[in-house]
Amino acid sequence: MKPRDRLRIAMQKSGRLTEPALDLLNRCGLTFRQSRDKLFLFGEGEPVDLLLVRDDDIPGLIAQGVCDLGIVGRNVLSEYSFTDGREAGPLAEWRSLGFGRCRLSIAVPQEMNYEQPQQLAGLRIATSYPGLLRDWLRNQGVDAGVVTLAGSVEIAPRLGTADLICDLVQSGGTLVANQLREADVLLESEAVLAGPRTLPTDERGDMIELLLKRLDGVMQVRE
Ligand code: PRP
Ligand code: ZN
Ligand code: MG
Repeated sequence: MKPRDRLRIAMQKSGRLTEPALDLLNRCGLTFRQSRDKLFLFGEGEPVDLLLVRDDDIPGLIAQGVCDLGIVGRNVLSEYSFTDGREAGPLAEWRSLGFGRCRLSIAVPQEMNYEQPQQLAGLRIATSYPGLLRDWLRNQGVDAGVVTLAGSVEIAPRLGTADLICDLVQSGGTLVANQLREADVLLESEAVLAGPRTLPTDERGDMIELLLKRLDGVMQVRE
């Protein structure tokens, strides 16, 4: 990895976290020149640039040192800690950012009556979060099948490829539209500032400290 003197922050290219994340960085005094492809936004005042990527790629980019920080859902960050063969040690959740709140939940067909996780034994659960789901199942002592899908998890029960799902729920609209209902919560999530466990010891580390200080100021005003 070539040494960099500018700080690089990864965030979601297009999705629910994009606007609030940009807004938060603006409030921290960071402004960006729009580049034409808009995958890389050059920072105007401070030496801080933005990389706009798929949210699922953010933890890996930090672990590889391609980016110094990331704004990403706790769900994505936590799932990464269960990924086999990940490039570096566990990442740190440095700040919770108070937006993008949602839950990673078990959702079952509306007609299924759910009382406890043990009922899920022997069933197939579709999810994009196999690490978090397997960990939860293990803690509950439940032996269930995990069907990993990259997206459109909510359709799996109707297609017959799974009996129920484990996915993010925000408004609940997706579940209702697919005749599913939330049955159990695995993880309360929101956007977080993620980074390596230890600060870089060069100017980038100083910049991160400055950024954290500004962020704490902004968050305090919001409370
Ligand atoms: C999540 C999740 C559901 C939807 C739930 O997907 O997978 O599809 O949001 O939200 P709701 O309860 O408000 O309907 P997201 O839009 O984050 O995109 P992704 O699945 O492509 O990551
Ligand atoms: Zn995603
Ligand atoms: Mg979705």
